[in-house]
Amino acid sequence: MKYNHEIQKRRTFAIISHPDAGKTTLTEKFLLFGGAIQTAGAVKSNKIKKFAASDFMEIERQRGISVATSVMSFEYNGILVNLLDTPGHKDFAEDTYRTLTAVDSVILVVDSVNGVEEQTRRLMEVCRMRDTPVIVFINKMDRDGKNRFDLLEEIEAELKIQLHPMTWPINSGKDFKGVYNLHDKNLVLFTAGTKAADEDVVELTDISVELLDNKIGEKDASLLREDVELVDGVHGELNVTDYLAGKVAPVFFGSAINNFGVKEMLDTFIRIAPIPRCRMTSVREVCPDEEKFSGFIFKIHANLDPKHRDRIAFLRVCSGKFERNKYFHHVRLDKDVRFSNPYTFLARDKDVIEAAYPGDVVGLFDTGNFKIGDTLTEGPNFYFTGIPSFSPEIFKEVVNKDPMKTKQLEKGLLQLTDEGVAQLFTQFGGNKKIIGCVGELQFEVIQYRLLQEYGASVEFRAQPYYKACWITSADHKKLDEFTKFKSNNIAEDKDGHLVYLAQSEWFLNTERTNNPDIEFHFTSEIHKETA
Ligand code: G4P
Repeated sequence: MKYNHEIQKRRTFAIISHPDAGKTTLTEKFLLFGGAIQTAGAVKSNKIKKFAASDFMEIERQRGISVATSVMSFEYNGILVNLLDTPGHKDFAEDTYRTLTAVDSVILVVDSVNGVEEQTRRLMEVCRMRDTPVIVFINKMDRDGKNRFDLLEEIEAELKIQLHPMTWPINSGKDFKGVYNLHDKNLVLFTAGTKAADEDVVELTDISVELLDNKIGEKDASLLREDVELVDGVHGELNVTDYLAGKVAPVFFGSAINNFGVKEMLDTFIRIAPIPRCRMTSVREVCPDEEKFSGFIFKIHANLDPKHRDRIAFLRVCSGKFERNKYFHHVRLDKDVRFSNPYTFLARDKDVIEAAYPGDVVGLFDTGNFKIGDTLTEGPNFYFTGIPSFSPEIFKEVVNKDPMKTKQLEKGLLQLTDEGVAQLFTQFGGNKKIIGCVGELQFEVIQYRLLQEYGASVEFRAQPYYKACWITSADHKKLDEFTKFKSNNIAEDKDGHLVYLAQSEWFLNTERTNNPDIEFHFTSEIHKETA
């Protein structure tokens, strides 16, 4: 328990949402509370409204290569909060999934007008897979949104999680008067504006007191009393253990742009959100209070300035103490490495640090040693599991337009796929290179970066696949036969693992039925577990 004090102080989380629900706005309010920024408007939205690689590049450049805003650390009421940013664009969803492996909890923002949208659904699936504790913020209550009961029902049904309201709204849109805090039993009156001090808190000894009628009018007061009776009857007190187990999600209503309802949520978050948790590795569970250091790389960010090829690898510290200039074991490469300029991300500035503790994220300069999922330890050989590659959704063959640059192209493809921009497959028994991505925009980014950074010119040829499944079998002979028989649909991933590329769900189901001895996996995780 050497570093227990440091561990108890830390909360590492991400804000997730469908684009436009208000993630950037909420992030900014958190940073204002944490004193990390002084003015509104300082956080640039990372959403990309136009679908073009050049826009993406320009945004990345403006954001200072995303590094400063990829992780935002600030102190609030004695707690060190590490907020991990997730990309706003759906084409970069896989980056978000990986970031979710590095956090201990999430805050999910739902737009009260639009309700649950596609991307929210998928992100929540990843949270559920990992039993990540979730707090829900229902945003834009200053707009005419859905009925509050209907909205909660929709979120529960769509996201398959039980909700527990912590505050209750009084109307919405232009009639929005504020929220009743079910936990502290006070009324928070809404005033438009962006100053936290604008919130008008009225203490109520009981919800039946006349003061409530004086503040919000008789009609709304009686409706609120009815609602609260109903909600209290159903939900009672929040069971924090159920929240920590990812079974129940506390819900807050508010308006991020008006900084309304944000402080209540942040205060609750500080109180109940999990401290750094234990994590599974290939051999056993590793807990933060273990003396020896361990951590993993969940994100790699390239320097978009072609003159500087270096990259930043983001390391999540899982146990022990990370120290500058100390040798740690790079498990995959089986070599010891040390870092003379590790970064932290306090107050949006990159600062060289001497030490970091579980829950922290450290930026490491990388010249090509790291891949997503790599583990660093203070000696032992294990891998952190649960950092899977998911099947891509769009597949394209890489066509080399400039044979003189073949070497550069190969290097570029390897490095870009190490960063997790896309997945690279090589046709089984052949040379055809196939790139798999989640969205079209990623192909544009790859094409642009291969040319800018490696001088390699490529085109892409669409491939008729819809999913990649990693295949294994206890019976090697059967796997060999299947691979030979289906060679047109078989490829190897970058680590040499066999992948079946299915043309459609029908083909996939047929192969699964016809080949009961072959196991089809939807993530690459299976290979890590046995590593
Ligand atoms: P995102 O990161 O999830 O994509 O969303 P972001 O915070 O950028 O918010 C999306 C839009 O919603 C922004 O407007 C923002 O001002 C607005 N918004 C955020 N919170 C609230 C709220 O509580 N109430 C209302 N009415 N609007 C809110 P925009 O016009 O797209 O951008 P901007 O020009 O305001 O920057």
